[in-house]
Amino acid sequence: MRADLLTITLAAGMGTRMRSSIPKVLHPIGGRSMLAHVLSLANELGNKQNIVVLGPELEEQGDNVIPDHIPAQTVIQKERLGTAHAVLSAIDPISQHDGNILILYGDTPLLTLETLQKLTVRLDEGADIVVLGFNAKDPAGYGRLLQSPDGALVAIREHKDASESERTITLCNSGVFGFKSDKLPDLLARINNDNANGEYYLTDTVELAKSDGLELAIVTCDELEVLGVNSREQLSMAEKIYQRKRRREIMDGGATLLDPDSVYFSYDTKIGQDVLIEPNVFFGPGVTVSDQVHIKSFCHFEQTQIGRGAAIGPYARLRPDAVIGVNAKVGNFVEIKKSTIEEGAKVSHLTYIGDARIGKNANIGAGTITCNYDGFNKHFTDIGENAFIGSNSALVAPIKIGDGAFVGSGSVVTRNVAENSLAVSRAKQRQIDDWAIKFRRMNASVKSRKQENS
Ligand code: UD1
Ligand code: MG
Repeated sequence: MRADLLTITLAAGMGTRMRSSIPKVLHPIGGRSMLAHVLSLANELGNKQNIVVLGPELEEQGDNVIPDHIPAQTVIQKERLGTAHAVLSAIDPISQHDGNILILYGDTPLLTLETLQKLTVRLDEGADIVVLGFNAKDPAGYGRLLQSPDGALVAIREHKDASESERTITLCNSGVFGFKSDKLPDLLARINNDNANGEYYLTDTVELAKSDGLELAIVTCDELEVLGVNSREQLSMAEKIYQRKRRREIMDGGATLLDPDSVYFSYDTKIGQDVLIEPNVFFGPGVTVSDQVHIKSFCHFEQTQIGRGAAIGPYARLRPDAVIGVNAKVGNFVEIKKSTIEEGAKVSHLTYIGDARIGKNANIGAGTITCNYDGFNKHFTDIGENAFIGSNSALVAPIKIGDGAFVGSGSVVTRNVAENSLAVSRAKQRQIDDWAIKFRRMNASVKSRKQENS
């Protein structure tokens, strides 16, 4: 861990263009909020303190906007008076800090560790301010990096304040900055709001630092990496770019995706080697897939573990706390929630398994339902090893089916079944000879009488 890095993520923006009841930075990319992406990246850098600047509308939610596992502290910017003003709301930790400071944006979720490391390296090499720039295809709206003929950074000019010739510059400010902590408080104190927006611009630190003779540096990255999300359309673009990257990582890890573009991963999806994933599969957060698993088309997973060699789908839905054992089989139109399917067990067709254990090598017939909910509480179903549940059975929990027991098809089972025994609970079959002949004859005569009368 680096003891000398403080990261500050600005996230006090209103995000009005999202037209949402939730704050912009809490919208997800790859299954977690944009803010969580940025904060966890900041932590990956090995920072000493991870601060996020929130708007007053989030004051009540406070630390709740930060996912549990990410260490970070919030500060509130009471009024939204510009990026420098936002940084000033963290002036206490800034003043107490001795080392490097990185400023990030909460709505820029695609930044990479490598790029941020380049900024800290430049600070370590002696720069007082480092700006992350990029070459914009369409620079309108961005602050432009003004350079002297020898390429040195001299100022950042906001679009609204720029002259015609400055607007032809395509090298733009991403918003990500690195500062030496001993220089930042003084620079912030000298910034005024004498500009087209009437805001306190963090970008003005550059010109001030230049006049002080401080060392300025530019690091550049690809435009896509600093894509800012302001609208739902940009959110979908960021998701697309993020998914492309996750698919590549997962294929690089040794999995085959037959149609990568149709498979969606979460930020934390773990896929083993020689896993085959067919088209149209969705991985929500918290999914781990071991080696040699075959996932057939149209499956949906959340908080699920899949053991080595298992075969899943097509059309399977694995909900939170589904644990699928080694070489187990989960077939089409099967839903599993909070249940363990042990090694080699088969749940092949049209089944709901909830709050249950399916023992090793057990076989669950088509249309089996664990009736786990009585309208008030959830109850557990325990199915032993090598048990055989006949098709279209309803197992009314709480219930225990012993090892090696059989349940006859179409049974509604309400009492425990002892091991190696058979439980059947359905009306006895009767046969009425020639019933069908009489039935047809009767109906035919009724029909012909009706036709005569009409
Ligand atoms: C800013 C930069 C611009 C850069 C662009 C990149 C300044 C003055 N301009 O412009 O050079 O090209 O980003 O996208 O810095 N925020 C607060 N509190 C505030 C104002 C902003 O927390 O009072 C946060 C926002 O939530 C956002 C970030 O700061 O995360 C940037 O603010 P925004 O208003 O989007 O700045 P831009 O005008 O886009
Ligand atoms: Mg912006």
